[in-house]
Amino acid sequence: MKAVTVTTLKDIKAAGDKFSVITCYDAAFSQRINEAGIDVMLIGDSLGMVLQGHDSTLPVTLDDMVYHTRAVKAGNSRCLIMADLPFMSDSSIPTLLENAAALMRAGAHLVKIEGDTWLAAGITELSRRGIPVCAHLGLTPQTVNQLGGYKVQGRGEAGKALVDAAKNLEAAGASLILLECVPTEIGKAVTEAVNCPVIGIGAGPHTDGQVLVLHDLLGITPGKTAKFVKNFMTEADSIPAALKAYHEAVKTGRFPAEEHSFQ
Ligand code: KIV
Ligand code: NA
Repeated sequence: MKAVTVTTLKDIKAAGDKFSVITCYDAAFSQRINEAGIDVMLIGDSLGMVLQGHDSTLPVTLDDMVYHTRAVKAGNSRCLIMADLPFMSDSSIPTLLENAAALMRAGAHLVKIEGDTWLAAGITELSRRGIPVCAHLGLTPQTVNQLGGYKVQGRGEAGKALVDAAKNLEAAGASLILLECVPTEIGKAVTEAVNCPVIGIGAGPHTDGQVLVLHDLLGITPGKTAKFVKNFMTEADSIPAALKAYHEAVKTGRFPAEEHSFQ
């Protein structure tokens, strides 16, 4: 199968099709995810919660992200690899550039950064230097202490601000937008407002791509999972089968369903 690039995702959006994204943190899963036909692997800083057992993503370091990006890269054959810039790795533009470069050297094809319109300057500097960026908007887990919890974002007036932020960041050079935990109508409005591909998690069925955390999708995450999560192991007899089922469900628009979305 042909390697997936940012251009592939743009073509998928232009054709009105969908693409699948899944978090990955190691080489063995990287191989299985490649075999399942998934389009993009995200080395998410969710690894702070999923692998390290913290109650937020804030303790994750750049070194942690580099380590796991190398491992995922080692197992990769055709997926597009996106790596998260961890908490406070953008404290200044020079720091941001160095940190993004470290992730690219470790094997990432693009970086993801949480924020809002104020990210524009950093995104422009990164994209100028050949580093594609995904801007993560909506529920941004690195700001959980300011948000007061993991809550749906973009209701009411805030929804219009989200659409504007997405447009501004695309104009600044963002190659992708990721929307987390926003009402379905805002997921749709952002996807229609920008030319670049939009990935959703808890953002309804209208975004161009969908992402889930690997451990949520495999039913390994302890306790109550978020509304937008579906456990694909309940109807599969193996991990490869569950990964394939997720990919097919996203491609055909069967996931997410109404029950996984916010109104
Ligand atoms: O860290 C992560 O896994 C993420 C996704 C949930 C979007 O940022
Ligand atoms: Na993340």
